[in-house]
Amino acid sequence: MATSLPILPLLLILSLATASDSSTLNSFVYGGCSQIKYSSSDVAYTSNLNSLLTSLVNSATYMAYNHFAIAGTSMHEVVYGLYQCRGDLPMPDCATCVANSVSRLGALCPGSCGGAIQLQGCYVKYDNDTFIGAEDKTVVMKKCGQPTGNQDKIVNRDAVLEGVVGNGGGFYRAGGSKDVAVIAQCVGDLSEGQCQDCLKESVDQVKMECATSGNGDMYLGKCYVRYTIGGGRGYFNNNGIGGSDDKNRGVKNFALVIGLLAAIVIVIIFLTFICRVFAGSSKEVLECFLALQSTILD
Ligand SMILES: *[C@@H]1O[C@H](CO)[C@@H](O)[C@H](O)[C@H]1NC(C)=O
Repeated sequence: MATSLPILPLLLILSLATASDSSTLNSFVYGGCSQIKYSSSDVAYTSNLNSLLTSLVNSATYMAYNHFAIAGTSMHEVVYGLYQCRGDLPMPDCATCVANSVSRLGALCPGSCGGAIQLQGCYVKYDNDTFIGAEDKTVVMKKCGQPTGNQDKIVNRDAVLEGVVGNGGGFYRAGGSKDVAVIAQCVGDLSEGQCQDCLKESVDQVKMECATSGNGDMYLGKCYVRYTIGGGRGYFNNNGIGGSDDKNRGVKNFALVIGLLAAIVIVIIFLTFICRVFAGSSKEVLECFLALQSTILD
């Protein structure tokens, strides 16, 4: 009984620690909306779009990628959409990420015929013009870190990028060597050949744009490559912004302290309760409490 009680604060610690991890997967990378708006009186498009977004969110509970085309009753009001979760995400995180994206798209692109959003953990796009299965190698977002000042590290980075991305593979690729780590992801509507072509382009771009940077992110329309030198694998689960790792650790430490405090309070309440049952006067309760406490501490 006494040992099972502290499980509660332990669960608290675990859930808070996981929450801080998944919140970084839900952090914003980029987003955009089509210029064209649909009229708010366009009931058919509104309702097709709503069922599309609902389908995306539901599907993300059991698949890392899916696409839909919703025509409803009027064939000329079709809305197309897809989502892609990062290949290493567990399903619950994928579902959370897609739900998060859809709700942010609502705020980002009210009334737009199309919109797209990339969070760390997933990508969501919809439009009334079909884009599914089409290649898109335009640079949408790039981010380069501070120069490393070490040419050997850059040579190794190029080798790892080549190794992870150069020779084909799946839609999600990850690898590393020495202190370089790389991840790459294609959107699942591409063919294997298109995926390879897109990733090759994004490697060329990141090498060119982030020439001597210690980390680089290169997001094209349908794929992305990210690397870090010295950041380790865990780098891809934080924002990739300097200091966010520390912030994350801060949240975890805070959760740990709260959890421990809760555990101590629960143990004290429990000991007092035990002593109340077995002792009579309040002086005896205190003695009993101190005795029990020293037994536990020994
Ligand atoms: C998308 O919707 C807009 C506004 O309703 C319309 O002008 C445009 O032609 C549509 N595009 C397609 C491909 O249906």
